[in-house]
Amino acid sequence: MVTGAFADRGADLELVGIQKRFPGFTAIEHLDLVIPAGSFFALLGPSGCGKTTTLRLVAGLEEPTDGRILIGGKDVTTQKAYQRPVNTVFQSYALFPHMTVLENVAFGLRRRKITDARSLAHEALRLVELDHLAARRPGQLSGGQQQRVALARAIVNRPALLLLDEPLGALDLKLRRQMQLELKSIQEDVGLTFLHVTHDQEEAMTMADTIAVMNKGRIEQLGAPEQLYDLPKTAFVANFLGQSNLFTGPVLGETSTSITVDVAGRGIVVPKARSHRHAGDVTIGVRPEKLTLHRENPVADSSHNVMGPGRVRDVSFTGVSTQYLVAVPGIGTLVVFEQNRSFGPVEGEGDEVWLTWNVEHGFGLDDDPADWETKFVADTSTKSIAAQRRATLVTELEEA
Ligand SMILES: Nc1ncnc2c1ncn2[C@@H]1O[C@H](COP(=O)(O)OP(=O)(O)O)[C@@H](O)[C@H]1O
Ligand SMILES: [Mg+2]
Repeated sequence: MVTGAFADRGADLELVGIQKRFPGFTAIEHLDLVIPAGSFFALLGPSGCGKTTTLRLVAGLEEPTDGRILIGGKDVTTQKAYQRPVNTVFQSYALFPHMTVLENVAFGLRRRKITDARSLAHEALRLVELDHLAARRPGQLSGGQQQRVALARAIVNRPALLLLDEPLGALDLKLRRQMQLELKSIQEDVGLTFLHVTHDQEEAMTMADTIAVMNKGRIEQLGAPEQLYDLPKTAFVANFLGQSNLFTGPVLGETSTSITVDVAGRGIVVPKARSHRHAGDVTIGVRPEKLTLHRENPVADSSHNVMGPGRVRDVSFTGVSTQYLVAVPGIGTLVVFEQNRSFGPVEGEGDEVWLTWNVEHGFGLDDDPADWETKFVADTSTKSIAAQRRATLVTELEEA
């Protein structure tokens, strides 16, 4: 039960047929979503896909063009922002510089004339492990500490639903990773419902119980992080959540448990249980870390798919693993991650290699290949994503 703006526990959030049109632009096409009480839910998608708009609708800062919003089973669609049992933490901390940390956290409670504001504020600060700095001013804290104060200020109100809009975006890499784990454990401690919005897939996977991948104002797929990673439904999800090697071709044959897809003359086998489509043209894929490189043409066996020969076009050593880009004629460029179990890269640029993967590791998309080929070109998109990731990684490592 949600009582006023205070809750003992989290509340369900339900979005029913939500649409949001701005003059000349539809930010949200159609959104149906149920977020169970007490869960840590991440809305993950690229910039401009409608994440902030969704949060603003839930917070009551924006009115939906169509649809209803329910919190704890209660229809709040027409309620004003301050009437909703919701608090939001943004990327900017917006702390009052002239007040102490404690006064910042107690501010909202004081304004509502809550009697034990001070002790509640101390309790919230203990939760974010900052009670020892209660007397400081925000200017005397680090970015990460300020963010924790902002969080304490939000949870002190015990909102049934806490909205987080890219709250860690301003922090450097190490601090961000640390705060991700802290946020997750705080959520588990307080048992409130967290709706976290981010464009960082690693952040979403680290923290959330459930992720909804959003693209152009729609949810493409929703599920547990492992589930989305293991069996992506669309090319967008397959490449936004990690990287994928995707191939398109017609189904050549089937058994009771698998389909065989013709990929540039090679028969590639995918379990039926792991493919959304079983006939016609299908797009199938495999994750880079599931591939194994070979220097010689591997002996065929029914439990593995073979591709090649191809040529190593790029080798990037990233410490834990090495990323290879392998160009296979007629197919495109494949990304391979190999763990550096012994020393550095085992193959060099220009080497001829074959690739294999366990049949059980492939997946088949639900996308109609005819639809997405206009949006993505398999080899260049994978290649540019790989290059982009590498650039990001280098920047992050330099920053850390
Ligand atoms: N008030 C507005 N008027 C017109 N367009 C808007 C307005 N607010 C957001 N948009 C547009 O809606 C889309 C989604 O925005 P937003 O929800 O902020 O995306 P995200 O948070 O995922 O980056 C963007 O294309 C943005 O330009
Ligand atoms: Mg945003």
